[in-house]
Amino acid sequence: MSALEKRIQDCSAGVAVVGLGFVGLPLARRLMEAGFQVAGIDKYIKDEKREEIEAEGIPVTRGFSAVSESDIVVICVPTPLTPDQNPDLSFVREATADVARNFGGGDGQKLVILESTSYPGTTREEMLPLFEREGLELGKRLLLAYAPERISPGTAGSALEKIPRVAGGLDEESGRVALAFYRRIVDSVTLVSKPEVAEMTKLLENIFRAVNIALVNEMSLLCRRMDIDIWEVVEAAATKPFGFMSFRPGPGLGGHCIPVDPFYLAWKAKQYDFYPEFIELAGKTNRGMPFHVVDWVVEALNGEGKSAKGSKVLVIGVAYKEDVADTRESPSLEVIELLARRGAEVVYHDSYIDMVEAGGKEYHSRELSPETISECDCLVIVTAHSDLDLELIASSEVPVVDTRNALGKLGLRGAL
Ligand SMILES: NC(=O)c1ccc[n+]([C@@H]2O[C@H](COP(=O)([O-])OP(=O)(O)OC[C@H]3O[C@@H](n4cnc5c(N)ncnc54)[C@H](O)[C@@H]3O)[C@@H](O)[C@H]2O)c1
Repeated sequence: MSALEKRIQDCSAGVAVVGLGFVGLPLARRLMEAGFQVAGIDKYIKDEKREEIEAEGIPVTRGFSAVSESDIVVICVPTPLTPDQNPDLSFVREATADVARNFGGGDGQKLVILESTSYPGTTREEMLPLFEREGLELGKRLLLAYAPERISPGTAGSALEKIPRVAGGLDEESGRVALAFYRRIVDSVTLVSKPEVAEMTKLLENIFRAVNIALVNEMSLLCRRMDIDIWEVVEAAATKPFGFMSFRPGPGLGGHCIPVDPFYLAWKAKQYDFYPEFIELAGKTNRGMPFHVVDWVVEALNGEGKSAKGSKVLVIGVAYKEDVADTRESPSLEVIELLARRGAEVVYHDSYIDMVEAGGKEYHSRELSPETISECDCLVIVTAHSDLDLELIASSEVPVVDTRNALGKLGLRGAL
């Protein structure tokens, strides 16, 4: 057993976590809990957040000098898309280059792990050369691995240690040490043969969700036309104990992962003259959903003899999913923008989010009260946080478009 493995074994290793966002911060906390020496590095952190994290006992710096003191470095920086929907690996490259420059002297080994989601080949083709440029050779002082994060913010039962992990090392030793490391902080780890397998695993998981959500969204459009309740169909199908997994229709996809990650693979696939059609089709179907939601609002207004233009519409929920304060890629923002473009006066309510910008305009959350509701011509539930007052909505006289079947909890059916 190497000196590094021994320090992992007794949790005395120093671990630097690079990027303290949705992924890095829970990891840093878990590492502390397990007894590791943790240092947080975040180049762009705001003072207020840095102070909050430091109050928890995790030192945070914007510089990378803590890397040289650490045995393990875990990189959890963003992997967004460029405006033309291509992978933007600038954060990964920048963080990797900073880690490589601050690797430190001596002959001790260091394990660097990437947790950010990316296409197969990122660890080998993008990261390794940046270390080699600094004279660091794989298998000597440098060990390099990829281990995707799977947390789901706001989802019950998604404590980091309970979610099984997958890891792949660039060589045998990197994999073995990464396995030993994750075994100290999570209940179950699968070591795969190489980072490309782990990178593709994460993308398969997220594309699986995107494609299945698209399928049920398409079914929901057909059901609506055939006057069949999609929610009842999904519930009934879910009684099958094998061979079926239930996905729920909705107003479109949001968040940092499911709408973004498939494009990473689609981009890489094209380098192999391969056009992954499921991904493109799912993207098209899911991205079309906010347009349908707006059509349903227009229909609901029609039913009242009103036009979209000049009507007041209350959009309920702007977070991309329930019980999180996160609007990244949220379909609500598109619904707001499209309604405003049709001439509706749009207001919104979200108990988690005070202010949003949609279509270049600022909106501020309204209290969900009988007064707010009675001022409106239509309500549209786009995200249903668990504190949403469903009784109040159900008792209103105003038509409701319920894209989440939130009122199903009261025995009333949604309007998808
Ligand atoms: N949010 C999720 O639920 C989730 C789940 C699984 C995987 N992921 C993946 O994990 C990665 C991180 O996502 P996130 O949601 O934590 O992002 P985030 O935006 O919440 O946090 C990223 C942090 O990295 C910091 N950062 C950016 N560039 C840096 C640099 N060069 N050096 C140091 N710090 C830097 C930012 O300031 C930010 O605080 C992404 O690849 C994402 O796809 C996210």
